[in-house]
Amino acid sequence: MRLLVTGGAGFIGTNFVHSTLSQHPEVAVTVLDALTYAGSRESLAPVADDIRLVEGDIADAAVVGSLVAESDAVVHFAAESHVDNALNDPEPFLHSNVVGTFTILEAVRRHGVRLHHVSTDEVYGDLPLDGAQRFTETTPYNPSSPYSSTKAASDMLVRAWTRSYGVAATISNCSNNYGPYQHVEKFIPRQITNVLTGRRPKLYGRGVNVRDWIHVDDHNAAVWRILADGQVGRTYLIGADSERSNITVLQDILRLMGRDADDFEHVTDRSGHDLRYAIDPTVLRDELGWRPQHTDFESGLRATIEWYKNNESWWAPLKDAVESRYEERGQ
Ligand SMILES: NC(=O)c1ccc[n+]([C@@H]2O[C@H](COP(=O)([O-])OP(=O)(O)OC[C@H]3O[C@@H](n4cnc5c(N)ncnc54)[C@H](O)[C@@H]3O)[C@@H](O)[C@H]2O)c1
Repeated sequence: MRLLVTGGAGFIGTNFVHSTLSQHPEVAVTVLDALTYAGSRESLAPVADDIRLVEGDIADAAVVGSLVAESDAVVHFAAESHVDNALNDPEPFLHSNVVGTFTILEAVRRHGVRLHHVSTDEVYGDLPLDGAQRFTETTPYNPSSPYSSTKAASDMLVRAWTRSYGVAATISNCSNNYGPYQHVEKFIPRQITNVLTGRRPKLYGRGVNVRDWIHVDDHNAAVWRILADGQVGRTYLIGADSERSNITVLQDILRLMGRDADDFEHVTDRSGHDLRYAIDPTVLRDELGWRPQHTDFESGLRATIEWYKNNESWWAPLKDAVESRYEERGQ
C-alpha cells in the first residue's frame, strides 16, 4: 500500500508515521508537509531513510495531484491547528484548512483515491460544564473559533464531495491529544517546558474548562482502524473517556514534576474559550472494535514529561519565541 500522509511532520502526523512504520512495515509512506513553524523535519529524522518527505503546500494543486496519483490512500492531517494563532491571524487557517482540503479533495476525486480526513471535536462547539451530555456523530456543527470554523468547513467539503462526486472518504473528529513531539505552544507541553525552563506554568482564567484527553497513539490506532474497516461516507468520533479540567491537568503536571500545586500563574483567558468538550466513542468501539490502550492518564502524562526532559534539543529552540508571543498577549 502506498500511503500519502499530509502534515506528517506535525505532532499527530509524526506519531502516525512512526507507528505506521513499526506496525505496518508493508506500507510505503510519503509525507507532504509545508514545514510551517509547526512542522519539524527533525521529528521525522529517526525514520528519514524509510519514508519520502516532500516539502510542499497542500493547496498547491500540481504537487498534490502528482503525489495523490501515485498513492492508494491519503491520510490528511495537515492543518493550521492552534486556536490562539487563529484568533490572532485567521488567514492561514482559511488557506490550509479550507483551500488545502479542497485541493486534496479535487485530487482524490480525479484519481479515485481513498481519503481519510482527520478533524477535531471542536467543530461541535462546546458543552455546558455541569452536564453529562457528550458529542456524537449527529451533534450539530456549532464551531466557536476561527480554527474550529475552518475545520468544520473542511469537514463539510469532505461530506459534499463524498455525496456529490462519490469520493471514497471517511472523517474522524477526535478530542484533545497529548504525547511526544507536540509543539510547545500547546497546553500540556507548554506547562511541562515552563517548569523545565524555570518559568511558572500559566493557566487561562480559572482553569475550569474541561478537555477530553487522548494519547496520540490511541488516536492514530483509531485512524488506522477507520482507514482499514471504516465505512466510506461515515464520520467516526474518537475519544478515550478522559475528561479533565485544565487546572487538574496543570496540577497533575506540577505534582509529577515535584512542584507545589499552587506554583502557577493565572493569565488572561482565551477569547471565546470553549467550556467543555466530551466525546461519546460508542460507535467506534461497537462497530470497529477500537479501544484506547493508554487508559491511565497519569502514566501517559508521566511518559510525556520524560519525553520532554529527554528531548530538550527538539523543543528548546522554539521555547523563547513562543513565550514572548504569549507575553505580548498577557498570557
Ligand atoms: N492536536 C490535537 O489535539 C488535535 C485533536 C483533534 C484533531 N486534530 C487535527 O489533527 C491534525 C493534526 O494536528 P496536529 O496537532 O498534529 O497539528 P500540528 O500543528 O502539530 O501539525 C500540522 C502539520 O501540518 C503542516 N501544514 C500546515 N499547513 C500546511 C499546508 N498548507 N500544506 C502542507 N502542510 C501543512 C504543518 O507544517 C505541520 O507539520 C489537524 O488536522 C488537527 O485539526 C488535532
